[in-house]
Amino acid sequence: MTTTTGTTATATAATPAVGTSHTRMEGRAKVTGAARYSGEIPFAELAHGWLVLSTIARGRIRSVESGPVLAMPGVLAVLHYGNAPHLEEVVGLFGPNPVIQVFQHDRVPHVGWPVALVVAETSEQAREAADALVVSYDQEPHDVAFSAGHPGMYTPDNTLMLLAETEKGDIETGLAASAVVVDEEYTTPEEHHNAMEPHAAMARWDSGRLEVVDSNQGAFMVAQDLAKLFSLDPASVRVRSEHVGGAFGSKGSTRPQTVLAAMAATVINRPVRVVLTRRQMFSLVGYRSPTAQRVRLGADADGRLRAFDHQAACLTSTVHQFVERSAAYGRVMYDADAHHTVNRVVRLDVPTPSWMRAPGEAPGSFALESAMDELAERCGVDPIALRTRNEPDVGPVSGLPFSSRNVLGCFEEGARRFGWADRDPRPGVRREGRWLLGTGTAAATYSAGVAGSTAAVTAEADGTFTVRITAADIGTGARTALTQIAADALEVELGRVRVKIADSDFGQAMLAGGSMGTRSWAWAITVAASELRAQLALTGDIPPEGITARSNTAEAVSALEKRERHSFGAQFAEVAVDVTSGEVRVRRMLGIFAAGRVVNPLTARSQLIGGMTWGISMALHEEAIRDQASGGLANGDLAGYHFAANADVPLIEADWVDDPDTHDPTGIKGLGEVGIVGAAAAIANAVWHATGVRHRHLPIRPDRVL
Ligand code: MOS
Repeated sequence: MTTTTGTTATATAATPAVGTSHTRMEGRAKVTGAARYSGEIPFAELAHGWLVLSTIARGRIRSVESGPVLAMPGVLAVLHYGNAPHLEEVVGLFGPNPVIQVFQHDRVPHVGWPVALVVAETSEQAREAADALVVSYDQEPHDVAFSAGHPGMYTPDNTLMLLAETEKGDIETGLAASAVVVDEEYTTPEEHHNAMEPHAAMARWDSGRLEVVDSNQGAFMVAQDLAKLFSLDPASVRVRSEHVGGAFGSKGSTRPQTVLAAMAATVINRPVRVVLTRRQMFSLVGYRSPTAQRVRLGADADGRLRAFDHQAACLTSTVHQFVERSAAYGRVMYDADAHHTVNRVVRLDVPTPSWMRAPGEAPGSFALESAMDELAERCGVDPIALRTRNEPDVGPVSGLPFSSRNVLGCFEEGARRFGWADRDPRPGVRREGRWLLGTGTAAATYSAGVAGSTAAVTAEADGTFTVRITAADIGTGARTALTQIAADALEVELGRVRVKIADSDFGQAMLAGGSMGTRSWAWAITVAASELRAQLALTGDIPPEGITARSNTAEAVSALEKRERHSFGAQFAEVAVDVTSGEVRVRRMLGIFAAGRVVNPLTARSQLIGGMTWGISMALHEEAIRDQASGGLANGDLAGYHFAANADVPLIEADWVDDPDTHDPTGIKGLGEVGIVGAAAAIANAVWHATGVRHRHLPIRPDRVL
């Protein structure tokens, strides 16, 4: 089923492109190697920077012994706090961001903090010199031990536009009055994203402008940050990121390598490239905080919730506060007269965590959708029936109506296709040789946000159209989806539209994040396209420079009616558990989603399957181990950090039900993150169904199964 219903008046071309599968516009360029990534574009006179990271978890840099290294072959400069140019403070979404104010002081807040950049003629020379650089420290005692009961745990003021804590009714009274109570703790470990294309940036000065080629999710944001850091006129900074090989949130903020490339290019007055290694990515590009979550559910005998309490704890660094908002999930999904959610955080001597696919909802849904399964078991109610019984009419915390909410449609369609009706609810009774078999389900949701953006659409003299927007295609197919949207908005064939993205000179636009990109960009393109059509209707010939219409949706977006806007889904998993080896194999997964209007079924399905695959990884494999003694990771590389490989990924199907959102001008909701939400819980619930044992701590490693 594909969703073609929308409310925009623009999709009236005889053969609308939106809703039809299209392969990626840049697919051929990518598979033939013609598409270049930021670390691959040649520049004359290019020098190479190599980062040196701290080896201690807390203290001060005593000395950076540059002398011997400067005498090594090809070395051009060694930058560090003692000689780096001044950088201004950048105030980001979470306040001042010292993470990108590199080399401004001698303090070391965690293992893997940037302490020096060695610049040399070649990358190999830079690396060799960086390895040889002696940095000495005055070390201080550190604390990297995360637990919910940590004495430093606090409730933050807010967690980026969301309240840290919400409360209505009296939880204790509600629990006391409940026939059935679930009160359990769930934990998820520190998890990392490590995109196929490592972070890389090249910077150079060109005719008085700082020109940067960078791998990021939002070129305009990076350009703004660089302008601020280096006290430059924003118009004199240009950032481009034409092709990006994965990001998942790790490229949703300006990162140190970009700042350092710009700093080094300024100091040595040559183009400089800085590429991160995979190991460096484990401390420099953000990660998912470990979480410890207590869920208390009180219900009547039939499973109807009376009391709902979700208390989530996470960590952040000592320099910057990022909160993994695991407890926000229940503010959308489940209601009760007594309802409490809180996200707490503790500052430790660790790298600053950051956005990682479905930040908050991914770990939050593991805890809550596992707890709902436990409640279903204790009430003797089918897990889908339990969720049906607890469907809220309005936002449980906000009281606002939903723009659309088709959770039950997802469960209905999913149950039919998965074969749920035949399920024997008893755990631990299905055996196939040495395997115990089980099935599980979970709900999913992720917010459908939108942000004001600008776009320009040009009617060219040759009858084609050019769209310019500072969107980013991080591998998702965004460029292709936007071409489809533009073609429909212009009422022309796809082949006549060219979409140019990822150039900060195109102006402000939402970054590729928060599942907000496509919706935000589509809105801006649609407005500009309709303005252009109005202009063309009044014009005869198109001049050689074309006719351009521009849009800025900031006002329209802020005037949007307040509603609960989210994508939803239902996840299903079948697992086999070998009780002699502890191995868990996922046999099949099915995810059915309600995600508004689907622009390109082909790339949409890929996104959802990608998220579900990550859910398998989260459930069974991923776990970064922080060594208490050193404060660093014991497995901070792709040899030690396990994740799902092809052989771990069985038949996965993702599809969607109709979800017309008549309260949104684009009808689009976004599906970049919802695919991972609930996936780990569905697998954990299936493991319980197979074995009769609950797994409340991820990952479900063989040694935990035994
Ligand atoms: Mo997404 S974690 O907002 O890039």
